[in-house]
Amino acid sequence: FEVDWDASAADKGGWTSFMAKEVSEGPEAVANTLRGRLVDDSVALELGALDDAVLRDLDRIVIVACGTAAYSGLVGKYAIETWARIPVEVDLAHEFRYRDPVLTPRTLVISISQSGETMDTKMAVQHARAQGARTLSICNTQGSTIPRESDAVLYTHAGPEVAVASTKAFLAQVIGQLLFGLHLAKVRGTIDDAAIAEVVGELRELPDELRQVLAEQDPIKELAHWMSDTRSVLFLGRNVGYPVALEGALKLKEISYIHAEGFAGGELKHGPIALIEPGQVVFVVVPSPRHEPLLHSKIVSNIQEIRARGARVIVVAEAGDAAVLPYADIVLRVPLTLPMLEPVLQVVPLHIFALELATAKGLDVDQPRNLAKSVTVE
Ligand code: G6P
Repeated sequence: FEVDWDASAADKGGWTSFMAKEVSEGPEAVANTLRGRLVDDSVALELGALDDAVLRDLDRIVIVACGTAAYSGLVGKYAIETWARIPVEVDLAHEFRYRDPVLTPRTLVISISQSGETMDTKMAVQHARAQGARTLSICNTQGSTIPRESDAVLYTHAGPEVAVASTKAFLAQVIGQLLFGLHLAKVRGTIDDAAIAEVVGELRELPDELRQVLAEQDPIKELAHWMSDTRSVLFLGRNVGYPVALEGALKLKEISYIHAEGFAGGELKHGPIALIEPGQVVFVVVPSPRHEPLLHSKIVSNIQEIRARGARVIVVAEAGDAAVLPYADIVLRVPLTLPMLEPVLQVVPLHIFALELATAKGLDVDQPRNLAKSVTVE
């Protein structure tokens, strides 16, 4: 008697790929990043050497990372600047480490890394420390190298991520930065208690809202199957929707081998609009009309511009946004939340789309060609 036992399938918990499993684990990843860090209506972070005196004295933040982690950093920039009123720049770790950035003891360099082992990110942290900057690591892997070389660490606790294309870790990286941004704003007195309480209330809702997004993925699957011969896909977003557009494009390149580019909506007329010809598929990440009426009207104009040139428009918009309906070929809905939290919901349909498209093309979604989960060499 022999049991037909496939160890790899068992690890995948019945899912067809690690990526599919990890996308489904998004709600738990976010809940785990939040666990123990929300106390009543506020945020409670323990950042060791980065105590309140150090945080009050900072005059600048630089976020360093590679790949998906760098896109999460772009979301972090918007949130930290909005809440803590401190200048934040985001730099690719390999650009940062090979130039001569201006750093002082009042600069905080935040590194973001799922693995905690990416060579360029590790060297960027060493580069920062050598020049006297403070360092915070936002990392998913306990005991890895980058947190050990940093002044303080905020672990994301998203659980192990095996698929090369990062999904749930991205959600957790955004949450980690939102928590840090709120903590920093509280310490520096740039946000009032009611505003913190509002964000905290919305953060608590996120895991259930993510479950809702995951429960409604059939239209995305259909779309992916219908599009399996597509050769090029563009992604547009503004504000925190811009990094979501970049991340959606990266995922499609990584696992579907389809040419994909993400653009900021305002940049459309400075080049990308030349690419629009009849049939070009464009995903548009739409901000909330309730919270961001100006940005919303700007992105609707972008949609009109590309629609007039024959683009096929797939919109990711919040539930109830009727203004996009006349211009969209397909609308993918996400639940209502606050602007800085939107990326966590909006990115999920894009992750699922890449996963389903690669699956429809018969590709190995967990191990795309030429890519490694963690780039630990030069
Ligand atoms: C590789 C992976 C990406 C990841 C990047 C940064 O390129 O394929 O998925 O975003 O490294 O990895 P890290 O572990 O530092 O987040």
